[in-house]
Amino acid sequence: MTTVGIDAVEIWTGNLKLDLPGTFAPQKGEDPEKYTKGLGLNASSFPDSYEDIVTMAANAAHRLMDRKGLEPDDVGRIDVATESAFDNSKPVSTYVAGCLEQVYDGDFHHANKGERKFACIAGTQSLDDAYNWIRAGRNRGRGAIVIATDTALYARGDAGEATQGAGAVAMYIAEDPDLVELSPEQGYGSADETDFLKPNQQFPSVDGKRSVQVYLARMREALQDFESVAGDVHPDDIAFIPFHTPFPGMVRKAGLLGYRYITRDTAIEDELAEEIGRQPREEAFDTEDDYHEAVREYTDALKGTDRYQQWYAETIDPTLTVSREVGNWYTGSVHIARISAMKHALENGRDLTGETLLVGSYGSGAQAEIHAETVCESWSEEIEALNVDEQLAARYDMSWEDYEEVHDAHNHEMDVDVEEFTTPEEEFVFDGWGRMGERKYRYVE
Ligand code: CAA
Repeated sequence: MTTVGIDAVEIWTGNLKLDLPGTFAPQKGEDPEKYTKGLGLNASSFPDSYEDIVTMAANAAHRLMDRKGLEPDDVGRIDVATESAFDNSKPVSTYVAGCLEQVYDGDFHHANKGERKFACIAGTQSLDDAYNWIRAGRNRGRGAIVIATDTALYARGDAGEATQGAGAVAMYIAEDPDLVELSPEQGYGSADETDFLKPNQQFPSVDGKRSVQVYLARMREALQDFESVAGDVHPDDIAFIPFHTPFPGMVRKAGLLGYRYITRDTAIEDELAEEIGRQPREEAFDTEDDYHEAVREYTDALKGTDRYQQWYAETIDPTLTVSREVGNWYTGSVHIARISAMKHALENGRDLTGETLLVGSYGSGAQAEIHAETVCESWSEEIEALNVDEQLAARYDMSWEDYEEVHDAHNHEMDVDVEEFTTPEEEFVFDGWGRMGERKYRYVE
């Protein structure tokens, strides 16, 4: 069986940056450490006035195609995942194809296009769709472009405002990939939940505290379900766990619960028992409350052990480096976590070839999915070709007044024109409205 997975990846960050401890915290009258230490964020990426989900998606896909030497004829599918769509009928992927057709000879008329929606997990679902399409043998030798693109903006004053972000991740899914091979095994945790939704409105209605609990509950179910098909997960077998990262503090919680779960009934639990006792077993308690209290105490103690802290520093923390600087990219967020971890390995001279990543995706509403990925031989060339640091460093650092203006400019209910803060170069830009209310785009040399 030939392998199928991610052959290459590229990102496109919104061209603006909001400094959270320096610019946001003083305006909110909050301690800057709430953002840097509590949520784990230094900055958010933000779209300039000429950017939106289409420009960022098309720019990421253009970089991807150019770098891999792909022509439209090599692409049999363009799937876009987003929860920031502006049209209930015409998919973003058609706009993206239209943009790319401005800069390539040939067209994408032969390519199947779609748009996936299930909050932040839709990026991974699109990856799955592409995988299944290739595995089913319907791809006629072509690959799929999967793009996760979002402007993750919250209403001004919402608690989520600190976790905003904007950017796109484009991936080429193909046979015999260069970056990672996807496992056929998957685990799901899915339930009808009301934690975060946008009932025909631009900015989300969020029950923030509940959303954190739902994320953890669904992720745990997904891990159990994954183990039921792939066998027990052991910490020593996993190089990194890229999780969906709405903000790094969320992943800190997921990492701790995940470690407790995967070390249960292992030699690691026995070794830790000398220091913090064994994990509580439900059957040993008279009431559920007593059991949950004991689990909380054990988890707190686990967090303080050297063994856990070392595992977290090696397996989880490297997945968060990029996220700390860009905030939540919704559908793209888990895919940034993967890049972040592999970039960390490259920069530290670690060879990941053949190693396993366990990828934990999540979308509110709610669903978690876990699958494994095996790192391919050419991974380091792929990661070395990225310009993540350059893109992040090139962002315009907004003042508070700039931020207020740009937020208004992107608010669909406000009719505000704002001068751009950056000068577009070799990228697609929003170019006004057409006669049927469609958006127009052009490429700036
Ligand atoms: N120094 C250090 N830490 C501090 C601090 C300080 N001065 N002040 C506060 N903190 C810590 C708090 O203790 C807290 O950490 P713990 O949760 O570990 O206790 C953390 O900083 C955040 O503080 P608050 O809980 O007080 O923050 P908040 O109430 O203002 O908002 C939030 C937090 C509810 C997550 C909010 O950001 C939000 O609503 N975000 C949007 C929803 C979201 O991202 N949910 C995540 C799960 S849903 C999902 O994943 C889908 C998605 O992408 C949206």
